[in-house]
Amino acid sequence: MSRPPWLIVPAAGSGRRMDADRPKQYLPLAGRTVMWHTLRRLHSVFPGARLCLCLDEADACFDPSSVPFAHWQRVAGGAERADSVRNALEWIAGQEEDDQALVFVHDVARPCVSPEDLRHLYAALAEDAVGGLLAAPVADTMKRDDGQGRVAATEERAGLWHALTPQGFRLGVLRQALDAARRAELPSTDEASAVEATGLSPRLVFGRRDNLKITHPDDLVLAEQILAAQASCSLSPAGEEAD
Ligand code: CTP
Ligand code: MG
Repeated sequence: MSRPPWLIVPAAGSGRRMDADRPKQYLPLAGRTVMWHTLRRLHSVFPGARLCLCLDEADACFDPSSVPFAHWQRVAGGAERADSVRNALEWIAGQEEDDQALVFVHDVARPCVSPEDLRHLYAALAEDAVGGLLAAPVADTMKRDDGQGRVAATEERAGLWHALTPQGFRLGVLRQALDAARRAELPSTDEASAVEATGLSPRLVFGRRDNLKITHPDDLVLAEQILAAQASCSLSPAGEEAD
């Protein structure tokens, strides 16, 4: 790997939909925390990367020993995910002169991302002027509701993808896009949508469907099963790569 990407891990959410006694990134998963697994997955593929971790300023659960990276920085979270990512980008821009540097953003709530997908995304974006994201084609028939619990329409499934993370973009492209989205008050739940709004087309990179975002309580059980299944297929980062 020539130069590892910068890594941003937004972890300043409160996990409202999990309805737990602490933010979901600190809930136990296979004997560790969700955050521990997520950071370890990233580190297994990008051990020399510099990490920017977005944390709520009032976070009382964070344990620095769960961070396996030699070079990492804590930055304050913002009101929305995009605000947290923008804070991280501002910090990176103060360290990095090259606005073509590649920046990967990965949700702390996705501990099952496979090392293979991370390598594949990195390879696919290495020469891409814009950037892109891991994504999985939609498999189910898609329904739109009428707001009253009944089907209003069946949507065309062909060409639809689930947007996953990491999403990786050139530093300059991403800063500009998130700044523009804020000025225009565009809601952006991922980086790609902000980049799309500038007229650019992020690259879709095929990703595994088991890159689950832990969102609701039963997702934790599912994530544990996915990790176990991946370990039995030797997908877990058992042997960490050399720097
Ligand atoms: N996130 C963040 N800053 C925020 C909101 C979210 O860094 N102000 C992070 C979360 O920690 C998570 C990722 O963005 O890693 C995706 O957000 P989501 O799954 O929505 O997590 P939460 O916002 O924590 O959950 P909820 O929406 O259920 O409250
Ligand atoms: Mg949220």
